[in-house]
Amino acid sequence: MIAQLLDSRIERVTHRPLKEIGSRLFERVIRQHWEAFGMRKDLTVQCRTPKATIPLIVRTMEESDWNLIYDKGYDRPPAEQEILDICQELIKAGVQTPYVAADALNNHPCFFQWLMRPEQNDEIQRTFNARFPRLREDQALLEYAYTVPRYRRMGIMAAGMALIADQAREFGAKEAIMFVPSKKDSSLRSCKKAGFAPYLVRREAKYLFRIIKTKRFDPI
Ligand SMILES: CC(C)(COP(=O)(O)OP(=O)(O)OC[C@H]1O[C@@H](n2cnc3c(N)ncnc32)[C@H](O)[C@@H]1OP(=O)(O)O)[C@@H](O)C(=O)NCCC(=O)NCCS
Repeated sequence: MIAQLLDSRIERVTHRPLKEIGSRLFERVIRQHWEAFGMRKDLTVQCRTPKATIPLIVRTMEESDWNLIYDKGYDRPPAEQEILDICQELIKAGVQTPYVAADALNNHPCFFQWLMRPEQNDEIQRTFNARFPRLREDQALLEYAYTVPRYRRMGIMAAGMALIADQAREFGAKEAIMFVPSKKDSSLRSCKKAGFAPYLVRREAKYLFRIIKTKRFDPI
């Protein structure tokens, strides 16, 4: 279920209409492809956490957070809705561990992201359809990054991500990794601000009416 939702999500997030009908058909029927950068951060090096415009605290997500994250009055674009749907499935499936960066003044969740450990390798491969490499013993994986709409453009993604990555030191991780679609310039900038640098390209493709699927990780 989560893997299926994921498939439809990456298509919506990264697919752009092509000008030529011929190329659109080719893209639809013969070959669809997506690219994401694997980003990594060395956790053994202490670096300054980027500052958001409000003070933040980091903690694990609590059950009561979801209503505050899922702002019902916000007219969500479909791609964003799909991200929230997947995250809700992850919560239902008990995939650990969702963290939040919360407003230090009122404990309101502003940003969330999953932080996963090498002990979860089998679960990660199953849940995310082998979309991530298996983690080494000293690695942690960050996945999904979501800022609650009314807290956007306050530098919270970069700050929240750096704070959550720091939590991985507690279970001995020396490196945090995450994947960002190559076309998401703004997210890539925020990751870099949080101390991540690209080291891998993940290339996914579907051929011939999606019958054949390929996935490849190439070092940069
Ligand atoms: C992508 C997303 C997480 C960004 O969250 P965010 O907290 O607004 O991100 P930041 O505030 O760190 O940065 C966003 C922009 O605001 C700018 N910004 C940061 N602080 C600012 C401030 N005080 N005033 C004005 N702009 C500011 C940043 O420079 C950045 O601009 P850029 O796109 O030109 O680089 C958020 O839009 C989101 O949740 N989108 C839906 C889910 C999604 O797409 N997730 C990403 C998957 S990779």
